[in-house]
Amino acid sequence: MSKFIQAVRGMNDLLPDVVSVWQQVETAARAVFEAYGYREIRVPLLEKTELFARSIGEFTDIVAKEMYTFQDRSGDSLTLRPEATASIVRAGIEHGFLHNQTQRLWSGGPMFRYERPQKGRYRQFHQFDVEAFGMPGPDIDAEIVLLGNRLWRMLDVQGLQLEINSLGMPDSRAGYRKELVEYFQSHRDQLDEDSLRRLKSNPLRILDSKNPQMQKLIADAPSLFDHLDEASSEHFMGFKEQLDRAGIAYVVSKRLVRGLDYYTRTVFEWTTERLGAQATVCGGGRYDKLVEQLGGKPTPAIGFALGLERLVEMVIQQGARAEAEGPSVYIAVLGSQAERAGMKLAEHLRDKGIRALCNCGGGNLKSQLRRADKAGVRFALLLGEEETRQDIVTVKDLRQDSEQRQVPQAEISSYLQQQLA
Ligand code: HAM
Repeated sequence: MSKFIQAVRGMNDLLPDVVSVWQQVETAARAVFEAYGYREIRVPLLEKTELFARSIGEFTDIVAKEMYTFQDRSGDSLTLRPEATASIVRAGIEHGFLHNQTQRLWSGGPMFRYERPQKGRYRQFHQFDVEAFGMPGPDIDAEIVLLGNRLWRMLDVQGLQLEINSLGMPDSRAGYRKELVEYFQSHRDQLDEDSLRRLKSNPLRILDSKNPQMQKLIADAPSLFDHLDEASSEHFMGFKEQLDRAGIAYVVSKRLVRGLDYYTRTVFEWTTERLGAQATVCGGGRYDKLVEQLGGKPTPAIGFALGLERLVEMVIQQGARAEAEGPSVYIAVLGSQAERAGMKLAEHLRDKGIRALCNCGGGNLKSQLRRADKAGVRFALLLGEEETRQDIVTVKDLRQDSEQRQVPQAEISSYLQQQLA
């Protein structure tokens, strides 16, 4: 026997019962996006590597260590998208739908990051993305938070906490960065290996360290908040006021810095204690400089992405079950003539909107009825020689112990429609 080939590490098969829960979540999300006037955009899975390096940031973990990058046959460096924001901005510039316009967009699909797989963290995972362009004020920041909140409500997901912060604008951040580097330099002996590396490349990310031994050092570090420019402070106040007015609870988390470099001002995350180490279900923020940075005209923007694996896990923890609409009838066929008639009957029933499974692969009546039972149908329709000769169908109700009934083939669809209504 040849060796069995398993799936690539960190990439999951989603089996039908789980897919059914995914579909419930996806349907709810689509309904919420539409309720807020967001329109779907679909972007490619592959982009030029440079797009991600220039947007997410060369020194971020994502770009430095986690991208699936390869050369295609013409020698171009391509990358499987680790997130969708950069692609949506690229598409917006390329198709000219950002400049001097407002746009509310959503997108969804698989993303790829070469991270160490563990529960809630995979190498292929799925996001829903929400992005709003052309609106500079905190009202839109509040709107997308409300949108997320509505989705949690709709799915009855509890236990999510909203953390917010402001990262200010790049100029004010530069001064802060300098001060932060000086602080950590003077405490070099207390930094772990990861933080020493980040000290050079991405010092703000040290604040995000989960290492318990560094928490005191981090708590005493200078605060970005004290370096916020006035306009960013005002923006943040406005954002908080809008959340207060909408009755959305939040905590200001001064250590919230996010793992991508393009953020300006508002950043936020929805986190939970119910998923173990991978606690962030949804994260995002404002990225007012990114469109310009990627070659477009200055355009304010904000968005977030939610991790579907994590959200689905919460929904399952709260008791969601597969609720696929299976077939309603199973056509059992005995004899070659009946087999042909069965296929035709199944097509006729499907034309009338009845979900029908037709027995394939032979078998006696007992084994066919066993398959019908396993398929969870309400009715088995029996077609044997006698039935085909008389143009009738024998109907067996598998949920009730009632007598079998013989129904003329010409009336079977209306009979079933009545019974299934
Ligand atoms: P992100 O924080 O990198 O942001 O990812 C957003 C969410 O995707 C996370 O909160 C998490 O739920 C999920 N996620 C990320 N990595 C993994 C993984 N390896 N396995 C499972 N789930 C994962 C972004 O991607 C930004 N593009 C969000 C954004 C949109 N900001 C502005 N617009």
